[in-house]
Amino acid sequence: MRPTVQPTNEELVMKENEFIVSKTDLKGQITYANRVFCTFAGYTEQELLGQPHNIIRHPDMPRGVFKLLWDSVQAGNEIFAYVKNMSNTGAYYWVLANVTPVVDRSNTAVGYYSVRRRPSRAAVDAVETLYREMNAIENRIGGKEGIAASVKYLNDLLTERKVSYDQFILSL
Ligand SMILES: Cc1cc2nc3c(=O)[nH]c(=O)nc-3n(C[C@H](O)[C@H](O)[C@H](O)COP(=O)(O)O)c2cc1C
Repeated sequence: MRPTVQPTNEELVMKENEFIVSKTDLKGQITYANRVFCTFAGYTEQELLGQPHNIIRHPDMPRGVFKLLWDSVQAGNEIFAYVKNMSNTGAYYWVLANVTPVVDRSNTAVGYYSVRRRPSRAAVDAVETLYREMNAIENRIGGKEGIAASVKYLNDLLTERKVSYDQFILSL
């Protein structure tokens, strides 16, 4: 992550009709960012190209969520996820992201694609509570085991509620 950017309490809110779009290579390095992406992130496309996608990572995001994201797309599946991102001013902005693999004609993954839209306030409130708990678990246990435990916390919650991850996310 960028060591010089400190998170602030300023929130940037997406408009209803806006989409934040980016593409990455297989390692998660940015290969395309649309204008709305650049506006929210506070970088030009030239500054973003070739950078790892964690350039806009917010420290409030649990590592377990990114593990789920990468496990899904590397297995060839799409995923929906609520993500709190950080602009280069330290301001935060919430998105509902749909991340998909991009495949070539032989169905081999060549990169990834993410389209993000404005999440509802109710969904953000619910996810904030969930992510706070996942972070607490990750911090308490630490390392890879901490990440596994926070993912387990989420999976146990889904089992208890008898819903799949997708059903849960899209019901918020
Ligand atoms: C297509 C795509 C889009 C991504 N979008 C974001 C994003 O908007 N914000 C973010 O923090 N991470 C995003 N990631 C995940 C990052 O690659 C990275 O896993 C995450 O920022 C955690 O970084 P860290 O493991 O270095 O802490 C995306 C990954 C892919 C493949």
